[in-house]
Amino acid sequence: MSAEQHPVLEVENLAVEYRRGRRRTRAVENVSFDIADGETLGLVGESGSGKSTIGKAILGLAPVTEGIIRYRGTDVSSLTRAQRRALTRDVQVIFQDPHSSLDPTKPIGYSIAEPVQIHEPAPKAVVRERVYEMLCRVGLSEDAAQRFPAQFSGGQKQRIAIARALILAPKLVVCDEPVSALDLSIQAEVINLMAELQRETGASYLFISHDLSIVHYLSDRIVVLKGGHVVERGSAEEIYRDPQQDYTRLLLDAAPVPDPVVQARRTAAREKAGLSARTDAIASSIR
Ligand SMILES: Nc1ncnc2c1ncn2[C@@H]1O[C@H](COP(=O)(O)OP(=O)(O)O)[C@@H](O)[C@H]1O
Ligand SMILES: [Mg+2]
Repeated sequence: MSAEQHPVLEVENLAVEYRRGRRRTRAVENVSFDIADGETLGLVGESGSGKSTIGKAILGLAPVTEGIIRYRGTDVSSLTRAQRRALTRDVQVIFQDPHSSLDPTKPIGYSIAEPVQIHEPAPKAVVRERVYEMLCRVGLSEDAAQRFPAQFSGGQKQRIAIARALILAPKLVVCDEPVSALDLSIQAEVINLMAELQRETGASYLFISHDLSIVHYLSDRIVVLKGGHVVERGSAEEIYRDPQQDYTRLLLDAAPVPDPVVQARRTAAREKAGLSARTDAIASSIR
């Protein structure tokens, strides 16, 4: 098979163990999934279930203790230098907190241009044009390039992080809770933008969130994680409409309610209706 015939990503029996001195934490165990071209795989689970660890293992930021991660059919732990370079260009990441990808001391045009400077260096004017084009695609104006991260709202900063992640037309984007820190109305905007850019570019997404009601909008298929293990998987519709596990049902509205009575009432109502009030609010503003 040529590389193009393989899925973008295959994760096979992945285990990740963190070691700190003599202490070992098995964060992920026996996790398998693949992601096809242009597909979005949703990875959902409660806090601490191992979602970010899987994203990090794919990005080479967490150890692969067991199993194999393949990019286009090739084990990422045995890449040549040229293949590794291609991987750092083709696989990008969007984090919950855009601060981690935007240097507060540099105008944002600099941060968006950086991946281009590293992987596809070109004359200044050419790079500037690419940055302007990307700003426009994420709904910001050209003059934003001169401004600093602190001058933007949370939603705008996430648009800037998306521009930086997508400027090289990556094949796969690991999106780790990309809207979890944003207001509800802004969450919908950013999700719509991500869906639109995916249609334009054909990129695949690994979309990570603790909130199933968010995950199901973008996902084709969903994998549910609990304690580092896969507990449920299926098409986004199946998992959303007819979750087989109580655990999965609770992820439909992950915003915790401190009052157990309110929580119980909400859970009952949710089970009756099959979805949450919060989902309705988001649904009404997602195309
Ligand atoms: N660098 C690390 N060292 C040790 N343990 C870690 C590290 N990162 C995460 N963990 C542990 O691994 C488990 C999974 O964490 P994480 O992947 O961040 O979960 P999630 O993203 O689903 O909230 C948790 O128990 C967490 O405490
Ligand atoms: Mg996480």
